[in-house]
Formats: sequence, C-alpha cells, structure tokens
Amino acid sequence: MKLNVVVALCALFTLTQQASSGEKCTCDVHNTEKEFPHSKLKTMENNVTDCNNQITSQKVLELESLLLGLELRLDQLKEDVSVLEKEDDGQLYGVLSLYVIENEMVEINQLIDKLNGTTLRHQLLTADSFHQLEELRIEMQELEEFDTMQVVRGRFDNRRLKNDLNLCRIGLNTTAAPLQLKYGTCPLGHVQNITGPRVYTQGEYPGSYYYGAWGRDPKPLAGKESWYWLVMLTSSNAYSHYVRLYSGLSALIIGVSVPGNVQIHPSNPTTNTIQGPNVVLYGGVLYYNCFNEYSICHFNLTSKRITKLQLPKGTRYNSKGNFCHLETCYPYTDLDLATDESGVWVIYTTNQDFGNLVLSKVEDEPLRLGQTWHTSVYKQSVTNTFMACGILYATRYVSKNLEEIFYSFDTTTGKENFNVGIFMNKMAANVLSLNYSPVDRMLHAYCDTHMVSYKVLFELLGNEFP
Ligand SMILES: *[C@@H]1O[C@H](CO)[C@@H](O)[C@H](O)[C@H]1NC(C)=O
Ligand SMILES: *[C@@H]1O[C@H](CO)[C@@H](O)[C@H](O)[C@H]1NC(C)=O
Ligand SMILES: *[C@@H]1O[C@H](CO)[C@@H](O)[C@H](O)[C@H]1NC(C)=O
Ligand SMILES: *[C@@H]1O[C@H](CO)[C@@H](O)[C@H](O)[C@H]1NC(C)=O
Ligand SMILES: *[C@@H]1O[C@H](CO)[C@@H](O)[C@H](O)[C@H]1NC(C)=O
Repeated sequence: MKLNVVVALCALFTLTQQASSGEKCTCDVHNTEKEFPHSKLKTMENNVTDCNNQITSQKVLELESLLLGLELRLDQLKEDVSVLEKEDDGQLYGVLSLYVIENEMVEINQLIDKLNGTTLRHQLLTADSFHQLEELRIEMQELEEFDTMQVVRGRFDNRRLKNDLNLCRIGLNTTAAPLQLKYGTCPLGHVQNITGPRVYTQGEYPGSYYYGAWGRDPKPLAGKESWYWLVMLTSSNAYSHYVRLYSGLSALIIGVSVPGNVQIHPSNPTTNTIQGPNVVLYGGVLYYNCFNEYSICHFNLTSKRITKLQLPKGTRYNSKGNFCHLETCYPYTDLDLATDESGVWVIYTTNQDFGNLVLSKVEDEPLRLGQTWHTSVYKQSVTNTFMACGILYATRYVSKNLEEIFYSFDTTTGKENFNVGIFMNKMAANVLSLNYSPVDRMLHAYCDTHMVSYKVLFELLGNEFP
C-alpha cells in the first residue's frame, strides 16, 4: 500500500511537471520496507530437508502427528492468505492479514511448544527437528513485519516449507546406519518387540542341512556391504569346513552364490574347522567353536589365517553344555558366538558356573577375552541367545510355532530380567542359531533348514549422531 501511495503521488507529480515544462521527469521510488529474507528461508528449507538423515525410528508417531498438525496449520495459513488476497481492497488487506497471521502464529507456537515437550522424553531425537522448527517460528515472526505483497510471496514459501516438512516426515522412516558404539553406551535401550518374519527362505538347499547359521557381516569389508553368509553343518549335523557367500539377499533366496565358498580346510571335521551352528561373521572374520576344543576360532576370510582363543578352564564343550528344551538338547551348541553394535561376544557355560550362562566380550587385535559376566540362568532351560545393544537375551521353546525371548541380562547394570515376554512366531520348530545384525537391526534365525529374519524394535529411538 505504501508503495502504491508513493507511486500515485509520483504520478501526480510527474503530471504536474510535464504540464509546466514538457521535459522528461524521472522519479525515484524508495521502498522503506525490509527485504523479505528469502535466503534465510531457503537455508531453513534446506535444513529441514537435512532432518531426513538425522532422525529415524518406529516410535515417532507422536512427533509425526505434531508435524502433521503443524502442516495443517501451514495449510490453513495458506488458505487464509489466499482468501485475503482475493478480497484485496488495499488498506484493509494489510491490517487483516497481520491479524490472521498473528492468529496462525499462536497456534503454530502452541504446536512448537508441544513438540518441545516431547523432547523431554526423546531429547536427542527431536533436538534437531525442534531446532528447525524454532527457526521456522522466527522466520514466521519476521513474516509479520512485511507488507501484504510480501505475505503473498511468503505463501509460496510456506507451500515449499510444507513440502519439506513432508519430506522430513517421510525421512523419519528411513533405515538407520549401523551404530559403532562401545557396549554400555548403546542408545537404543532394550528390545521392546520383534516383528513377524520378514525373510523366510530355504535358499539354495531346500530340505537339507538342519543345522546352520546365516546373516550379514555387521562390519563388512568395502564392496561387500550387501553380502550375506551361510554356514551349514554338512557333516553329522555338527561340523562344517566352509562359509558360503551371497552377493545380496535376493541371491541368497534364489540360491545363486557367486562369490562361492571360502574353505577353512579340505577335510571336515579336522583341527580348526567348525563345530556347532552358532557362528558369526564380523569384520570379514568368521568366529566359531573350533573342532573338539573349548576355543574360539578366528578365521580371516581374506588371509585364510586362523587364530585361536581358549576359553577358561572348565568351559563345557563337545556337546556337554548345550541349549535345550524339555524334549531335546541341540547338539554342539556349547559355544554361541554373537554380534551387536559393539562387536563380538561369546555365550557359554562352565563347570564352576554349574551350567549357568556365562557371557564374555571377545576383543580383537590381539584376539583376547574381554570382560566376563556370570548369570543365574541355567543354560539347559535356554534354546538360544543373542546380544543387542549390550544386552544379552535368551529364548525358550513355547510350542512348535512360538518361541519366547524370556530373559535378559544388561551388561551395563548387571540386572537380570526373567520376564521379558517377547514372542517370536516360528516357521519351523527348532531355532538352531539366532543372531542380531546391527546393520539392519534384524534377528537372523536358522530353523530346521529355513532361514528366517525378524525386525527388532527398540525401546528408545536410534539417534544416528550420539
Ligand atoms: C542450517 O544450515 C546452515 C548451513 O548448512 C547452517 O549454517 C545453519 O546454522 C543451519 N541452521 C539450523 C537452524 O540448523
Ligand atoms: C522448551 O522446553 C524447555 C524445557 O521445558 C524450556 O526451557 C524451553 O524454554 C522451551 N523452548 C521453547 C522455545 O519453548
Ligand atoms: C512411517 O511408517 C509408519 C509405520 O511403518 C507408517 O504408518 C507411516 O505412514 C510412515 N510415514 C511416512 C511418512 O512414510
Ligand atoms: C509385539 O508385537 C506383536 C505383533 O507383532 C503384538 O501382538 C504384541 O502385542 C506386541 N507385544 C508388545 C509387548 O508390544
Ligand atoms: C584379515 O587379513 C587381511 C589380509 O591379511 C588383513 O588386512 C586384515 O586386517 C585381517 N583382518 C582381521 C580382522 O584380522
């Protein structure tokens, strides 16, 4: 309006000048209003988009609904501005628009406050989006200072913002990168639940090999990030001498092993070959129970070199410290290797622990046994174990179709919980190996020739930048 008025006066002035002298007249128009901060808004938009990569998890419902609310408010703002635009009658438009914008601002502020409230519960997670929204609020407040034409222009920016918020919301669902953390500082909390089977396949050898293990290397070598590995106990349901590799999940499912086998030794079994199904691949190294010894074998797939780590004297081996349920024990399950965010672990039992589960961290370079924890859960009441986020979990057999994660041991607090109560729907009766992959937060199970995986849902949100 101010601009219009200035132009009108100028026109009058021009006319007067023309009438008196007939010479050409130039007229400077000074806009005293501030420039609309488009560059700031642009930066903010980019930052909101960056939010994509900073937040993940399933537990974002609350945040999502708040963002949805904010989105609706922005929609409303857009609508109000467009109505006012149509009714533009000069002077009144500017006054009304400020009222409306102010009104919208109150509601947007309320939403931001609520969003701020959620940060108390998942501070790490929302800190970033809150920061972004705070920026949005400041920018929106600046919007109030501009004249009507700039409000209209702001409307288009709001539309862009809305799209970015949408992008941000979609980004909330992206898969997390693996966490590389020392145990005890894992920010995921405990396992809250697991999904139904996500992968279910018999792979390349349907109906053969009842014992085995499979999964993904949580710390893959460059170029092998999507590889899967499979170890089948090809001799007596107890022994193996190679690991079979697949270039991806689909290759594993259709049974095309292009990288093929990496052999430990031509004979099976013999010194340093695999005994028992609970093996893991970590950092290009296969960890397993060495044949006929209470030692962990460390087989480097690249160099084919084997190093050994002996467990404490009294460790039960050669099928004397097995996982069991009422009907049967699973042979040669004395040593259960496991991986989580912090690396490799071994779960076993000893005579001095009277058959209760013992947990030790396995450290590399040099290969050695790290900290050890003694639990009060009897190994024969357990069918399998896995580690996730520094917590040991144990399962028991409920029925042919159901397995229960019933027990946990937190290595940070030393607390045991016998009432975990998470149920796993099985595709086959016996879970012969079970391991957690921090890469994709999947639980990989090998059950009577079937390869099954489940998504693990954690208590806390995973922040990628702790
Ligand atoms: C947005 O990103 C820019 C550059 O990437 C940075 O300077 C600025 O501090 C960020 N602002 C917010 C609120 O994150
Ligand atoms: C966010 O919440 C904290 C803690 O309740 C409070 O100190 C802070 O002022 C709030 N920020 C805004 C912008 O509301
Ligand atoms: C995020 O995932 C949830 C559940 O998986 C789904 O209901 C929701 O629509 C997803 N949100 C977006 C924006 O994709
Ligand atoms: C776990 O998920 C299943 C569905 O997959 C659901 O039926 C069950 O109630 C959930 N349990 C808990 C403790 O949230
Ligand atoms: C495996 O062997 C390769 C080749 O000798 C070596 O570069 C790598 O560091 C070894 N990896 C481990 C974890 O020992």
